[in-house]
Amino acid sequence: MKIVVIGGTGLIGSKLVNKLREHGHEAVAAAPNTGVNTLTGEGLAEALKGASVVVDVSNSPSWEDSAVLKFFETSTRNLLTSEAAAGVGHHVALSVVGTDRLSESGYFRAKIAQEKLIKESSIPWSIVHATQFFEFLKGLADVSIVEGKVHLPPVLFQPMAADDVATAVGRIAVDPPVNGIVEIAGPEQFRLDELVRRRLAALKDPREVIADPKALYSGAKLSERTLLPGNNARLGETRFETWLTQSAGKIAAA
Ligand SMILES: NC(=O)c1ccc[n+]([C@@H]2O[C@H](COP(=O)([O-])OP(=O)(O)OC[C@H]3O[C@@H](n4cnc5c(N)ncnc54)[C@H](OP(=O)(O)O)[C@@H]3O)[C@@H](O)[C@H]2O)c1
Repeated sequence: MKIVVIGGTGLIGSKLVNKLREHGHEAVAAAPNTGVNTLTGEGLAEALKGASVVVDVSNSPSWEDSAVLKFFETSTRNLLTSEAAAGVGHHVALSVVGTDRLSESGYFRAKIAQEKLIKESSIPWSIVHATQFFEFLKGLADVSIVEGKVHLPPVLFQPMAADDVATAVGRIAVDPPVNGIVEIAGPEQFRLDELVRRRLAALKDPREVIADPKALYSGAKLSERTLLPGNNARLGETRFETWLTQSAGKIAAA
């Protein structure tokens, strides 16, 4: 099966392309540096020729409110139009658990807009809602700095390894479209501040992490369970401690 992975050079995309190829599929990594740009439409028609499935795991280079909205709206529109012309039978997109509860955030308003376009399109679809990636914990600290300290709300979340995200997205891509949302998550729950503190300690990063109930997440106020998946989420295998000691954690630490 020919499967085009938009954002196929990124964290999830590169793992996904490898996994699909290992399973004998013709996986195409589509991104600006492979000549495919979903914002301008460059290279899209050619890349989609003969494709059965398109998986969108791209991300906006800028997370500023208007830039990220423009990215997901324009790229999703271009993609869905090109897919209709090419006769693609399944559009899969990666989004985030709790997206619909996070509309105070400009980033999540953009993901909501992306999902709306997909649901209203003529292409059969599956939207995968993943929880936060272990690989993202340091980045989360970086964007949560107030006067040199990391401020995070002590709410529950259930993060997962990027490798497990790619495995789950790959399975969903080769299955028939669900025309709905599939939630995926890690095997354990943590407090957001607690796990970021552990991640920074493992990286020997001296920044202090403050449990701050008023701190925002990507501009949105969180309550205790905003980031948690529902009971039917498919769970990845990799536990946090295992990931930390594996090469994934060490490479991400570099
Ligand atoms: N971070 C988390 O914890 C988390 C949790 C749940 C869901 N997600 C979702 O997961 C998705 C993927 O995240 P990621 O961390 O794997 O992203 P990433 O590593 O930043 O990769 C982004 C990819 O998008 C590509 N891209 C950028 N602009 C493009 C354009 N104009 N046309 C085509 N491709 C373009 C990039 O290509 P270049 O490298 O060539 O620029 C790259 O391949 C995102 O949609 C995000 O919302 C993230």
